Amino acid sequence: MGKKQKTVLVGVTAGIAAYKACEIVRGLQKAGVRVKVVMTKNATHFITPLTFQALTGEDVGVGMFDDPADPIPHIHLAHEADLLLIAPCTMNVMAKLANGIADDLLTSTALAMIAPILIAPAANEYMYSNPASMRNMATLTSRGVEFVEVDEGYLACGDVGKGRLADVDRIVARALAKLGIIGDMKGLHLLITAGPTIEPIDPVRYITNFSSGKTGYMLAAAAARRGAEVTIVSGPVAVDAPEGVNVVHVRTAREMRDAVAEVFPSCDLAIFAAAVADLRPTDEADHKLKKGLDDVALSTIKLSQNPDILAEMGRAKRGDQVVVGFAAETNDVVPNARKKLSAKHADMIIANEVGPEKAFGTEGNEIWMITATGEEHLPYMLKTELSDIVLDRTLDLMK
Ligand code: PMT
Repeated sequence: MGKKQKTVLVGVTAGIAAYKACEIVRGLQKAGVRVKVVMTKNATHFITPLTFQALTGEDVGVGMFDDPADPIPHIHLAHEADLLLIAPCTMNVMAKLANGIADDLLTSTALAMIAPILIAPAANEYMYSNPASMRNMATLTSRGVEFVEVDEGYLACGDVGKGRLADVDRIVARALAKLGIIGDMKGLHLLITAGPTIEPIDPVRYITNFSSGKTGYMLAAAAARRGAEVTIVSGPVAVDAPEGVNVVHVRTAREMRDAVAEVFPSCDLAIFAAAVADLRPTDEADHKLKKGLDDVALSTIKLSQNPDILAEMGRAKRGDQVVVGFAAETNDVVPNARKKLSAKHADMIIANEVGPEKAFGTEGNEIWMITATGEEHLPYMLKTELSDIVLDRTLDLMK
């Protein structure tokens, strides 16, 4: 008989971050968890029960007496859950929990819980750091309730401070750890290149491209959530490092090559999502080139080839390593990408069409996954969704 599927009851309370509960639900589901949602009535002002019903395929609990067939829904919910995760949790709900108040479905369920409770608070920094909230948190901690520490940063009210809901991946990872669920990438070391490289012309100018790093960073977040040890070798980007991921920052293609070469021998999988500049100015001027004085140098910048990092690592790879490259194409996407599969000695190439508003910097993408034996097309979807499918196929290549 297979292992019993775990059930997480996600409690959603009335905070601006309530919409992030959707991503938390998805993250848990991706790990094979059954998710049920209970909302406070006030939370329904921020997000509808229908959204969670559609995501989970389960009834969403709000009122104590909404289901005439079940007069004690809080007891049933509490008994079938392996974990109650309240995210986001307002200071008001936290105060009720600390004092044993059970005046709605969520707080009544919490009081009836036998399985552990994990809370991811979210609030304005003053509400969060208020001694009352701190005392409530300490009380709950002393009773065995665990917390996912809030993040610091921009808050919905415009203030900057401590109180932002923790990173979704961090919340999901903590919940999975509490359930004892080991991700399917546990024990694997994944190397990912991400972002653009910049190739200096002089101290103030450089050649680069439009890569934002989102693709590589989202792949990294998904892999870390699935238990992998992840190293990103990243060009300059404005995206935040995912929780628990090691990031090596570089600027140029040659720096990226050196950093990759150092990590590559110890990795099991490598995904090359970076948009590496193929060419660099042969000579980097040591002063700002000036109009009038340096016209010749400015109008005739000589270029040299950068190392092809993917091809180099593809050639060097051991039999037990899997190497996946990307192909950014503006035309004949699949045929051009297929050529790169052999030219770069990759096990799989992920082809995408690039252009204005296409692939670079976008939240979603359409891709073709090309291997020696076939190809699979994935229609436009969020890069977060694509990441898990790409990782699934990459793992298949290890078998
Ligand atoms: O970062 P985002 O804004 O999310 O955008 C994502 C993306 C468009 C950058 C990504 O989806 C993508 O296509 N990345 C690869 C971009 C690219 O450089 O493609 P290419 O066809 O030129 O290169 C083919 C492969 O060789 C790539 O895996 C690339 O990382 C690698 N390469 C290329 C040149 C070089 N000198 N060294 C390399 O390793």
